[in-house]
Amino acid sequence: MAKIRVLIADDAPRTREEIKRLLAFEEDIVVVGEAGDGEEALRLVEELAPDVVLMDINMPGLDGIAATEAISERSPQTGVVIISIQGEQEYLRRAMAAGASDYLIKPFTAQEMVDAVRRVWEKNRRRQAMTAVRTGEGKGEVGRVVVFFGSKGGVGRTTLACNLAVLLARRGKRVSLVDFDLASGDVALFFNLDKGQGVAELALEPSLNPETIEGYLLNHVTGVRILRAGGFSEETLPRLGLGAEILTSLKVKTQYVLVDTPPFFCSLTEEALLAADEIVVVGRNDLPGLKQLKTDLNFLREKGYTGRIWTVLNQVGEEGVDRAGLEKALGAKLAAVLPAEWRACRQAVNKGNPLVLEAKGTRLAQALESFAGQLSGEETSRGFWRKVLRR
Ligand SMILES: Nc1ncnc2c1ncn2[C@@H]1O[C@H](COP(=O)(O)OP(=O)(O)OP(=O)(O)O)[C@@H](O)[C@H]1O
Ligand SMILES: [Mg+2]
Repeated sequence: MAKIRVLIADDAPRTREEIKRLLAFEEDIVVVGEAGDGEEALRLVEELAPDVVLMDINMPGLDGIAATEAISERSPQTGVVIISIQGEQEYLRRAMAAGASDYLIKPFTAQEMVDAVRRVWEKNRRRQAMTAVRTGEGKGEVGRVVVFFGSKGGVGRTTLACNLAVLLARRGKRVSLVDFDLASGDVALFFNLDKGQGVAELALEPSLNPETIEGYLLNHVTGVRILRAGGFSEETLPRLGLGAEILTSLKVKTQYVLVDTPPFFCSLTEEALLAADEIVVVGRNDLPGLKQLKTDLNFLREKGYTGRIWTVLNQVGEEGVDRAGLEKALGAKLAAVLPAEWRACRQAVNKGNPLVLEAKGTRLAQALESFAGQLSGEETSRGFWRKVLRR
């Protein structure tokens, strides 16, 4: 039987020795290398292609989180188990979002460590098998995570997420849509699919793998695959890393993973933002709405999330906007200004049929279509207007 090949990355030689000694008892595990810092870990991962890296967070030079991120990008076949100490929750969260598959908190037992190594190996093996099945050649497409964010209620995050999911699917993309608003998410309602389990139930699963998550997806006729919020209760507190795990898993299945978030900050939102390639910040065109939008933009900048930010002003009435003035005040370009279409929106929601299908001819549907083009990189807003004007 092939052994699970492990690399130990820790700057303390004593810790490495101790781990090696404990793993020596396991017949199915072999330690193939040791690294004293993040850079060495990266080099050895490339050289030795281990199955699993046991990675300390605090190391001189390139730390464990940065090394994990690089490994998950360059060598996704290698799984990373993060080793951290109590009180490093913040780092732990970042490590999971950077692509770590599991973690151990010191002090841990030999059994816990061995279990984590086997679990990650098993998970990676299955993921590779699934990817190979899907592409037929062993290489999977890594989807883009698009997070809809905004800390004011009712600004239109859900409306945007649902309609853009449909529009991207109509452009031939494989799209999944996840509802991280556990307490009051209504993505499924927008699609008239408000039955079945979702993120809340996934949170109670003892361990997650891509097949488990696959089993929770609902299929909409448009091709959009939906992971609904599920039945929330007080016990449904998502454990750290759940969001990252869900998104990582969906990223290998679909080209776009759209994530709807609640109007307040929670661990799921944070993990989504950490994983985001694109962050759509939605705000409303009135004074409190604009004030909140500015706060949200500042928050995203301060936190240093790496996703590209798209600022969207929604529910804009007949009065229109002074675009240049607003952009100056916000310190950000507006990617889209979406008109208010109250009746059409209400009708679409009540029917459980997204507006871009239910009311195609509306200005809002057209503006959303143009934004979908920008998001998917297939159309610049200028290109869109040029086309419209030529008609
Ligand atoms: N451009 C628009 N024109 C008119 N109504 C809109 C528009 N966008 C959204 N709405 C309506 O505003 C309400 C809130 O929208 P939505 O649920 O998408 O917002 P949200 O930010 O997700 O809110 P929540 O805080 O409840 O999650 C809904 O009734 C929706 O139909
Ligand atoms: Mg919502």
